[in-house]
Amino acid sequence: MIICSCNVLSDLDVRSVVEAERTRSISHVYGCLCSPKCGRCARTVRRLIDEALGCARAQSCDGCGLSSPS
Ligand code: FES
Repeated sequence: MIICSCNVLSDLDVRSVVEAERTRSISHVYGCLCSPKCGRCARTVRRLIDEALGCARAQSCDGCGLSSPS
């Protein structure tokens, strides 16, 4: 799904960068993909980062006794 109409970026583009770079920085994600223009997609990029790294954190915590992020 296209999440940035200015740069025609998809959610898969963002997820790929977040997983490769292990970054929570929106500016780092933009830097890898494009130059942000209007910024309307920033909230969606933030959500995708949180989802991607939240899932990775849950997987790495299997068996550690801590509750998984939801
Ligand atoms: S929608 Fe992403 S910069 Fe405009």
